[in-house]
Amino acid sequence: MLNTRFTAEFGIKAPIMQGGMQWIGNAELAAAVSNAGGLGTITALTFPTPDALAGQIARCQELTDKPFAVNLTTLPSISPPPYEEYQAVIIDLGVPVVETSGSNPDRFVDTYHAAGIKIVHKATSIRHAVKAQAAGVDAIAMIGFEAAGHPGELDVPLFVLLAAAARTITIPLLAAGGIGNGAGLAAALALGADGVLLATRFMATAEAPIHQRVKEELVARDELQTQLIFRQLRNTARVSANSVSEEVVAILSAGGEFGDVRELVAGRRGRTVYETGDLEAGIWWAGLSQTLIDDIPTCSELIARMVDEAEDIITTKLLASIA
Ligand SMILES: Cc1cc2nc3c(=O)[nH]c(=O)nc-3n(C[C@H](O)[C@H](O)[C@H](O)COP(=O)(O)O)c2cc1C
Repeated sequence: MLNTRFTAEFGIKAPIMQGGMQWIGNAELAAAVSNAGGLGTITALTFPTPDALAGQIARCQELTDKPFAVNLTTLPSISPPPYEEYQAVIIDLGVPVVETSGSNPDRFVDTYHAAGIKIVHKATSIRHAVKAQAAGVDAIAMIGFEAAGHPGELDVPLFVLLAAAARTITIPLLAAGGIGNGAGLAAALALGADGVLLATRFMATAEAPIHQRVKEELVARDELQTQLIFRQLRNTARVSANSVSEEVVAILSAGGEFGDVRELVAGRRGRTVYETGDLEAGIWWAGLSQTLIDDIPTCSELIARMVDEAEDIITTKLLASIA
């Protein structure tokens, strides 16, 4: 058992959170992670309407009596979703934890807290983490440059970012980006974290609702096979490298604008990759931690193994190195 402030304050057994994943974070995956002792997350905007999200939350509540989270990402969007309606569903259905990302969470904090909901905010810079802490969130997940999704524009890898964050963040701190095994968990704890947040690693689990070919591709890939897109737009995203990501980078590097790549990056095309296993159908997201993925376990096997590995490193390997 690894007990930290994160496990104690969030009522979970293992200090491992599954981060939000567009098109992937559904009720079944979130419940599998939570039933395994971690903190699973449903990704709100995967579902086309607030009602559809409500159905997922109710399903998750049927599948687990453990705490779980809902991610509500508020990023610049081609056609912004009705955030307030999604938020109302999260509150009405008594979701215990919300994962916020994409912009300063200050305008949401009081509303969630009034409903007894804890907030984990994902930040890519120390400055944003400090702001979110001041706004009153309950935990910070520090997102290193290695991460899938939006690692920010500052390119600071997790080893330094986390250690620096640990000096100023006094609320529970999670490490994210590039973590794929128990060694990453032990290292994160050593650097000052109270837990870890993973996403890419959870894509290659039995319960992840994506095509088997995508999972097998994650097992095969290494740390060199991701690509940063949207750098020129200052909205950097780390995705799995493929012909579509190459084309997007080429167009934007040659002076193209968002409109020139809109069709290539359309969410529906990315969704097709996960549904059909056609790896070149669109943009799909993965981080550097894919290089650490060697198998496709259940969430329960993965979490138990990570905790065992971390405990073994701490209690045996590290202790043995002390003369
Ligand atoms: C397939 C996929 C989809 C993601 N979608 C979202 C999202 O919708 N909102 C969000 O805040 N983060 C999203 N992320 C980022 C993760 O929640 C997490 O911050 C990041 O992936 C952690 O790094 P790791 O993948 O190296 O573990 C996504 C990540 C992946 C792999």
